[in-house]
Amino acid sequence: MKFYLEASFRLSGDATMAEAAISDFFGKAAGILQKGAPEGQGAKITEWKLDGSRINLSIESDRFVRAHDALLRLRRPLSEILGKQYRIGVRGLDISKFEIEVESDRNIEHKIPYVRDIKYENGRLHLSLDVGPGGALGQSEIENRIPDRIVSLLEDKLQSSYGGKTEHWELLWESEPREPKFQRDPTEEMVKQGWIKHGSSRGQWIYGPEATHVFRTFEQIVLEEIIRPLGYLEMIFPKLDTWDVWKKSGHAKGVYPEIYFVCPPKTRDPAFWEEVMDYYKVTHEVPLELVKEKIDVPIGGMCYAQCPTFWGFLQGMTLPNSELPITVFDRSGTSHRYESGGIHGIERVDEFHRIEIVWLGTKEQVLEQAEKLKGCYKHIFEDILELRWRTAWVTPWFMAQEGKTGLAEMSGAGTVDYEAVLPYNGNWIEFQNLSVNGEKYPKGFTVKAQSGDALWSGCSGVGLERWASAFLSQKGLDPANWPAEFKKRFGEMPKGIRFL
Ligand code: SER
Ligand code: ZN
Repeated sequence: MKFYLEASFRLSGDATMAEAAISDFFGKAAGILQKGAPEGQGAKITEWKLDGSRINLSIESDRFVRAHDALLRLRRPLSEILGKQYRIGVRGLDISKFEIEVESDRNIEHKIPYVRDIKYENGRLHLSLDVGPGGALGQSEIENRIPDRIVSLLEDKLQSSYGGKTEHWELLWESEPREPKFQRDPTEEMVKQGWIKHGSSRGQWIYGPEATHVFRTFEQIVLEEIIRPLGYLEMIFPKLDTWDVWKKSGHAKGVYPEIYFVCPPKTRDPAFWEEVMDYYKVTHEVPLELVKEKIDVPIGGMCYAQCPTFWGFLQGMTLPNSELPITVFDRSGTSHRYESGGIHGIERVDEFHRIEIVWLGTKEQVLEQAEKLKGCYKHIFEDILELRWRTAWVTPWFMAQEGKTGLAEMSGAGTVDYEAVLPYNGNWIEFQNLSVNGEKYPKGFTVKAQSGDALWSGCSGVGLERWASAFLSQKGLDPANWPAEFKKRFGEMPKGIRFL
């Protein structure tokens, strides 16, 4: 990696009489420009010239002391010399050329902010940044580390390609084999028996009384076996996530292809919308192109991960030690994902129902809660639902949702997926997850502990559609084949709606 920068220091006056001092300063600048870099590495000034009230200079560097950092490092000591001895101030910086070279096995054909041009030659990407008079990259962008973010973005892009994204998957535990009681697709069977019907939207279902009672029984089990014994408290998390929330949760980095965007009207003045209403009344068609003109840019999207909006409650706060660990859950609404073409039955849907369990505290408290929850889940899947299931250590959900692969960098943080086999096709589906999210959320939403200890958090999503897919595909729809512990909690099958 190489950086090449041409810049000038803008001075408050002509510095001709200081030329010797400036020359002396740059002559000895190696110490400043190589500090922290391995022996012989860092940045160097390849050329400089005093031009009245400007000092023009060229800096070349490797990745250890990047050229723009070098420039910032020079500023203060230079100001001191010019200020003390000559009463000349350094007013600011102008950048006239900024080039970055990165090793790469391929070209990158994307528009990147502040990058005017990308060329690929001899295994290297050559980037010219947009600088100079009227250019986008100036002093404040350098101070805000924009060049470093461009480099990180390139490194991310070169590491992962969208097509060949491989997520981590490592088996942790597997239940004893159990003879399935059923071999068919439970969605088809539920449709046949009138338990569910397609909703009008993509990947959306209307659950009749029978299916709803199955979902509510699952919820009851979670309440009785987890929420009550572990002392979790119910909250209601908002179901519209703004960009502000997603900036803090990290979703703003990559979630766009999978969200349902939410746009408010440009105004709620009925007169503004009259044309749309009239068009509909006459044609019985909604004039979508016209609607498009009358709605504003999206303010965010519909609930996607369920826990991010909770953090607004704690944002910017310090928690007394006695409050920790905090243990809460939400089951107040749906989550929405624009799924790939592979939507199938209730196994993969665009609108789904989930209980989201969230806990936070010190690292020890968070890891301890995670173990307690795992114990409760094991009891439920083994003794109440009697599933054939397994757990795997996977790419953390919060990374996957930012478009990253691999594992969490913080030791102890990560996601366990719970998977169940679908006897009708032999596939395993993820029916819930449990994650220790490290410091990500407390940091993202600036939440602190009174003790000054790092705050950690965890979350676990219990997907009701997924539980139903796992359970019904292994046990079928006939309560006669259901495990006794589940049947007991389910009680009477509600009478569904019949048709002529
Ligand atoms: N928030 C986590 C997720 O979206 C758990 O539900 O996967
Ligand atoms: Zn979560």
